[in-house]
Amino acid sequence: SLVSIIAIDGPSASGKGTVAQRVAERLGFHYLDSGALYRLAALAAGRRGVDWDDETGVASVAAALDAVFAGERVWLDGDEVSTAIRSEAIGVGASRVAALPAVRAALLARQRAFAQMPGLVADGRDMGSVVFPHAGLKIFLTASAAVRAERRYRQLIARGEPADLAAITAELEARDARDRDRAVAPLQQQPDALLLDSSGMDIDSAVAQVLDWWQARS
Ligand code: C5P
Repeated sequence: SLVSIIAIDGPSASGKGTVAQRVAERLGFHYLDSGALYRLAALAAGRRGVDWDDETGVASVAAALDAVFAGERVWLDGDEVSTAIRSEAIGVGASRVAALPAVRAALLARQRAFAQMPGLVADGRDMGSVVFPHAGLKIFLTASAAVRAERRYRQLIARGEPADLAAITAELEARDARDRDRAVAPLQQQPDALLLDSSGMDIDSAVAQVLDWWQARS
């Protein structure tokens, strides 16, 4: 198709959200934070008293999500939930509902609808494998577990939230294991994805690398 797509997948706290957003800004492309949709599905299910393990129930909540995005802000049923969807509890809920095939299916068309001219940078776990398999550039962005836990820890402290490095490390590892080991759309580097390990790298260098790769492709 004519719409250019850059798919960035990777584990939590790898920096893919920030990198994807900055690449989108630099290129004038749209941006999809697919994790936000799973977070919204978990939050909406919770608010409706639907259990996170109830596949049919969460799938119908996901199919009917009343969500509005504007930059980094997001609204659910007319309420701003930009902060609420970023909590660790909702992150855990997101990774539980994301393991249910009917929930993933319910969110597929909504994700593909973000592919608009002139282009899209999409970040998540299965952007290159399932949602945009024909993406012009696929990147697997990762960092060591220690570096990712440290980044998440600093984010929480900066937001004035309580943070415990050991607990964060354990939660990150549990969430990654759930994302990697699930049967449907598991987190894994695709054979046609370029590996970007940001462990010893700052955001600007990671953004520059993605832009270099994109230029080399187009
Ligand atoms: O990226 P983020 O941490 O916001 O994603 C929250 C959870 O949503 C992930 O742990 C993962 O289980 C799920 N997810 C997914 N597929 C995506 C994006 C997120 O399964 N494309």
